[in-house]
Amino acid sequence: MKKKQFSIEGASEGKSEHGLDRRRFLETGVWAAGSAIGLTLFGTGGRFVVGDAYKDKPTQWVNVGEVAALPVGKMQSTTYSVRRKDAWRTSEEKGILYVYSDDGVIFTALSAICTHLGCNVHWMPENNDFRCPCHDAHFSRSGEVLSGPPQRPLIQLETKVEAGQLMVLV
Ligand code: FES
Repeated sequence: MKKKQFSIEGASEGKSEHGLDRRRFLETGVWAAGSAIGLTLFGTGGRFVVGDAYKDKPTQWVNVGEVAALPVGKMQSTTYSVRRKDAWRTSEEKGILYVYSDDGVIFTALSAICTHLGCNVHWMPENNDFRCPCHDAHFSRSGEVLSGPPQRPLIQLETKVEAGQLMVLV
């Protein structure tokens, strides 16, 4: 039996029948791999550059409690749990927030999430400031950075009073 022989025109010069030579094929492959690596690194590194700028906007009101029961001038912390839904899934988000009022009328609410890398800050009444245990950042009572690596203040959350209850948007 006679063996069939295949030949591709230009194969000896590294060219296929479609005109894509070996060198061009390898160049395309290297560019594609480089682009994939670059996009991956940019995506990961970009998270540190833009921080939470592209995070979903807060959409849910959390009831912090009766306004009359919140002690004036004292920092209060509260935990919350909300369900978030995106295009694909529903997830439960738990968090901590701090509220205070110096006059019982105007309330300030701050997220406990450190703006450096996301650890929870703690209120230190003896120092009258917030401390982040992860990299020893200090924030003022109103959330401004006093020291440490964070570049941005604590996130201030919107508040409203509804039927005597203090509500915070998270
Ligand atoms: Fe708070 Fe780094 S995460 S200082």
